[in-house]
Amino acid sequence: MEKTVQMYEGKAKKVFATNDENYCIVSYKDDATAFNGLKKGTILGKGAINNRVTNHLMKLLEKNGIPTHFVEELSDRETVVKKVTIVPLEVIVRNIAAGSLAKRLGLAEGTKMKSTVLEYCYKDDELGDPMINEYHILAMEFATKEEIDLIAKYSFKINEILSNYLKDANIELIDFKLEFGKTADGQIVLADEISPDTCRFWDTVTGEKLDKDRFRRDLGNVEDAYQEVLKRLMGE
Ligand code: C5P
Repeated sequence: MEKTVQMYEGKAKKVFATNDENYCIVSYKDDATAFNGLKKGTILGKGAINNRVTNHLMKLLEKNGIPTHFVEELSDRETVVKKVTIVPLEVIVRNIAAGSLAKRLGLAEGTKMKSTVLEYCYKDDELGDPMINEYHILAMEFATKEEIDLIAKYSFKINEILSNYLKDANIELIDFKLEFGKTADGQIVLADEISPDTCRFWDTVTGEKLDKDRFRRDLGNVEDAYQEVLKRLMGE
């Protein structure tokens, strides 16, 4: 399969069309942004790590019954994915209070909650990805009721699969963001990435942060944390 024109360039990835209209090629960059693009930087080696970690986890999810856009890893930074129309939602799953939820509800980071929290944000940079609920999604026709129910079902199942898997690597899955897409034949599939950019990973023993919060909060050892996740998941 061959790359043709660049269809899209985001903060962390570029997406190319290919000579087959059903597929795209994603290319991961080392660029890092936070706070809706206000903070910019580079995390050396991040693109390759996020590509490999994402594909590893997508394959694990596929094996466990979650349909994904993953097709084939082409190289360190490039992957063939199914062409989808992205549902304009950021689906956030939270096991432990951290980040914006901790701030919003006045909880100390690390507070255990009685049950898992699911949030939806409208994917729109200009608006700063505002949080919305199911009624907004239906009113704005971002997805149908059946699609929202399926997205919620997949999201909880993904949380269960990933939380259990990561525990064996001494990583606690605090929270994460998912995006879903719709294929040409209308199937809802998991899209985008699952990486230290989009998840909070804490060491189960020390509580050390092994994710993008090291960049967002200037905690240092950013590259080391990404490398550590790759090593724990893939032995490299
Ligand atoms: O910032 P907040 O606490 O709402 O983030 C929740 C989770 O969603 C974190 O794991 C964060 O990495 C992820 N996230 C993301 N992209 C965004 C917003 C949040 O990957 N635009």
